[in-house]
Amino acid sequence: MDFRIALIKGDGIGPEIVDSATKVLDKIGEKFNHKFNYVDLIAGGVAIDKYGHPLPEETVKECLKSDSVILGAVGGPKWDNLPGELRPERALLGVRKALNLYSNLRPAKLYKALQQYCPLRTASSFDILIVRELTGGIYFGERGRRNTENGVEAYDTESYSVMEIERIGRVAFEAARKRNRKLTSIDKANVLESSRLWRETMHKLKEEYKDVEYSDMLVDNAAMQLIRDPSQFDVIVTSNMFGDILSDEASQLTGSIGMLPSASLGEGTLGLYEPIHGSAPDIAGTKKANPIATILSASMMLRYSFNLIEEADAIDNAVEKALDIGYTTSDIGGNLNTDEVTQKIIELI
Ligand code: IPM
Ligand code: MG
Repeated sequence: MDFRIALIKGDGIGPEIVDSATKVLDKIGEKFNHKFNYVDLIAGGVAIDKYGHPLPEETVKECLKSDSVILGAVGGPKWDNLPGELRPERALLGVRKALNLYSNLRPAKLYKALQQYCPLRTASSFDILIVRELTGGIYFGERGRRNTENGVEAYDTESYSVMEIERIGRVAFEAARKRNRKLTSIDKANVLESSRLWRETMHKLKEEYKDVEYSDMLVDNAAMQLIRDPSQFDVIVTSNMFGDILSDEASQLTGSIGMLPSASLGEGTLGLYEPIHGSAPDIAGTKKANPIATILSASMMLRYSFNLIEEADAIDNAVEKALDIGYTTSDIGGNLNTDEVTQKIIELI
């Protein structure tokens, strides 16, 4: 089959790791007889430099015309002093919103070969899927600054509608059904009204999914439980902000943030696939970046957007083998560079 994939390489290590992903995809195309056609699009800091805006309209248009999008990373110190609306991160938030990608799947699992890099003394294995709401909450609420009698104050608002909670809840329950049928919904219902509506809505929904073992957890406790015993979790569902924080925490338990892929999905098959890590400007151009998070993101794309299961498994298995043999970058104890790890994974496919 023929697929059209939009590539937003972005800033820092973005171009290097996206190149790794397309090389792996080309190998899959060769082996399984598919043609992946790539369209290079610009967004993030590079777009600010070129057009004075992080997300050109053309980029959104082209994404909407594609079968899926792979994104590297955006941002860097160079653009840190720009006002909020013009920061590179706006590009990412803008694409998620424009494509209505409200569900963000972030699997975090501890590979056997990486057990020694897990900072927990006691963890032997875990396999968690974080389902993060991605187009609502405090990320997209009303924000601003206003004058008060105490001087200027700034505000950001968290709000969630029943519709938004229900649709992300369904994604999470369905995902739990395909895994170990255990779902933990994480909120701050002891303080936040938006969390109380979140919880009420999840409780209604769980009546439809009686085959899934459901529980609520407060976010502060969840942050602790992830460290205490990550193996207690199967699927986690949570808001945009809490999901952002907890997925970084979970990533570190896998040994390296360079390992975690993500899929952002909406109603159709169009999805955006990106590593959860950032643009790592400090190592950009050094070929030190771990390409695995992006390669696994490409695998998620095959699985979720294109329904190419065997092909996705081929990537996942090759990655696991590479880890077992020790074909890794220095963040997880290896001595290969980005391109060498990519090449090894391709050979293993
Ligand atoms: C992520 C990132 C983004 C987010 C930033 C870069 C806007 O941290 O994808 O987790 O907060 O969603
Ligand atoms: Mg984040």
